[in-house]
Amino acid sequence: MHNIDIQLVEMTLDVMKYAINRITNTSPELGQPKKEEELRKLVGETITPEGIGGEYAFRLFRDVLVKATVPIDHPRHLAFVPASPTRAAVMFDLVTSAASIHGAYWMEGAGGIFCENEAMSWLVSLTGLPKGAFGVFTSGGTAANLSAMVTAREYWRRNPDNQNKKALVITSAGAHSSIKAMAKVIDADVLLVETEDLMTAKDLKTKIDQLNVHQRERLFAVVATGGTTNAGIIDDLDGIANVCKQENLWFHVDAAYGGGALVADSVRHLFNGIEKADSITIDPHKWLFSPYDCGAVIYKNPELAKEAHSQEGSYLEIFKDEGASGFNPSDYQIQLTRRIRGLPLWFSLAMHGTDKYKWAVEMGIKLANLAGELIQDREQLELVREPSLSCVLFRRKGWSPEDYRNWTYKNHKDGFALVTPTKWIKDEVAETVARFCFINPDTTIEDIAAILETME
Ligand SMILES: Cc1ncc(COP(=O)(O)O)c(C=O)c1O
Repeated sequence: MHNIDIQLVEMTLDVMKYAINRITNTSPELGQPKKEEELRKLVGETITPEGIGGEYAFRLFRDVLVKATVPIDHPRHLAFVPASPTRAAVMFDLVTSAASIHGAYWMEGAGGIFCENEAMSWLVSLTGLPKGAFGVFTSGGTAANLSAMVTAREYWRRNPDNQNKKALVITSAGAHSSIKAMAKVIDADVLLVETEDLMTAKDLKTKIDQLNVHQRERLFAVVATGGTTNAGIIDDLDGIANVCKQENLWFHVDAAYGGGALVADSVRHLFNGIEKADSITIDPHKWLFSPYDCGAVIYKNPELAKEAHSQEGSYLEIFKDEGASGFNPSDYQIQLTRRIRGLPLWFSLAMHGTDKYKWAVEMGIKLANLAGELIQDREQLELVREPSLSCVLFRRKGWSPEDYRNWTYKNHKDGFALVTPTKWIKDEVAETVARFCFINPDTTIEDIAAILETME
């Protein structure tokens, strides 16, 4: 199994041919999901005692299975937060696997971790956090939010009075679902400021003032959002930072989606106050054009993360020894063994330079504004709110939730586009609306116009 033989060499060529085609194809086929029974029928048993052979397994993948997936970088994939990894980053993802680097400790991964840290230094510089701030790449925004919340909770529990208290965190209704999910993981309660629109300092202060004494004692952190997933809204980061300071609370900013926009001059001012955060989540696999999985968590004081996350074990001691001194990514987030997942970002940044990133992010913002104009020009369509970052919420007058669903399914089935509805909650009423989220700079104004045409 570990031998190199001619079959493997030939297969490697085939696989590379596929990879090159995929990397260079700007308009890949928009795949369709199939039922599991259907896929089973098409490919049969793939795991057998003797093996089905690499060539055959690869053919099944290339000709059947990958066609049952949606390429996240399709220019008319505007659902979810899509992705659009640069070709350089995808190529270097292959190199990252081939290099076989253990990314937990400097002693084993120094050269790779050095590259990650170069990319991280640039990310940190975008936030404006003070000297000493630093971060680490994670598997995504959920893991980054969890890592930050664990750090915050452990810091709070340094106070012996807090050791047996159940922690409580405040965030807004617009915050990403991972905040609630990760609060569950750390067994903390969540209180919501009930707005999908931007959370203001006043909203937060009112919520804090409404707490009873017992709840106030349990409150340890506030999570603000730097670009809500649904609508691209940025909370009042500066005002919230000031409240957190007055109230002695940990201030976390979840900028998993919006953080890429810190590089964009046109919207950078909306993030003012982020430099006062105790921790920040930014996902390079969203708006910084990295392949999955690549999130990041950044701390104002990384030592607090180290206290919370550093794992102890007799077999690990040597890696933390003086002789192996260096930055150990595993000390700053929840994962021990890790891929050097920041490497594709590093290579792409090194190759293209940061100005190209600025251009590509500005392109997403421009596409959102252009989409807004096209929507306003159409009698049947209406903006729900002004585009924010690269998100656009709009309604098709007269449509029911069922109409939006059918529209999504039809466009997907036709292999044309994946654009999905969402809900916008205002005055406690949840309305089903259409949503665009732009990431891919290859999306064109013609793509947008053609999608809007399908709503006539
Ligand atoms: C604001 C925000 N936070 C967190 C997440 C979760 O990130 P991930 O899916 O990488 O775990 C997302 C995902 O869209 C997000 O938009």
